Amino acid sequence: MPTDHPRKPLISGNWKMHHNHFEALQLVQKLAFRLSDDDYDVTDVSVHPPFTDLRTVQTTLDVDKVPIKLGAQNCYFEDKGAFTGEVSPAMLAKLDVALVIVGHSERREAFGESDELVNKKVHAVLRHGMTPIMCVGETLDERDSGNTEAKVAGQVRAGLAGVSAEAVAAMVIAYEPIWAIGTGRNATPEDAQATTSYIRGVVAEVAGTDAAAAVRIQYGGSVKPANAAELMAQPDIDGALVGGASLEADEFAAIVQFHRH
Ligand code: PGA
Repeated sequence: MPTDHPRKPLISGNWKMHHNHFEALQLVQKLAFRLSDDDYDVTDVSVHPPFTDLRTVQTTLDVDKVPIKLGAQNCYFEDKGAFTGEVSPAMLAKLDVALVIVGHSERREAFGESDELVNKKVHAVLRHGMTPIMCVGETLDERDSGNTEAKVAGQVRAGLAGVSAEAVAAMVIAYEPIWAIGTGRNATPEDAQATTSYIRGVVAEVAGTDAAAAVRIQYGGSVKPANAAELMAQPDIDGALVGGASLEADEFAAIVQFHRH
């Protein structure tokens, strides 16, 4: 696969179910203070707070003109209707949400999200002019039994079904080995590179080589300031989806600034 395409890295902070809107405000203000135009020039940055914090974070980014992109962690695939407890992509788009995480392994595992549901959500996010960050990744059992490639290929194919090559090119895929999430155990840079490169090959089969060369593939799973630079140096890794280390401004800023190290 061609790996010399200029894909600007995207470092995304997935806050999961952490921080109420007061804490969110503090975190985003601290983060804005630590990052500068030099960082935004070379790296795109997004934060993905819980739904209840989105309006607060959006207002802060907007008023202070901070070029951090606003992200969500999930959404439903219908625009409106009798779906108690769900949040629609139309509502997120109105809040200037730019990126929506779709099919995170925690949603697949704890909330039973299927590949088909993930695909519907990918389409819904795109329909509203936002960018999906579609997560894929294998469990430890799947890895140990040599099924990593089969698992991620199936998720990529199903998740991208019916998506145009042009839309795929502008998307983000996050490769997150499930055994590395929140465990402090990250894939070695070589392993992460091998699987992201493999994923890019699957995207080429599904959407063509141009889309595969353009799609950004993040690595996620225990990314920390100490391992970010080495992971980001891999030719097929175009950024990171960061959980635990995104909850603290200094740590997340240090990851965004991996290029300085
Ligand atoms: P982690 O989470 O960085 O805490 O491993 C990553 C994720 O779940 O997106």
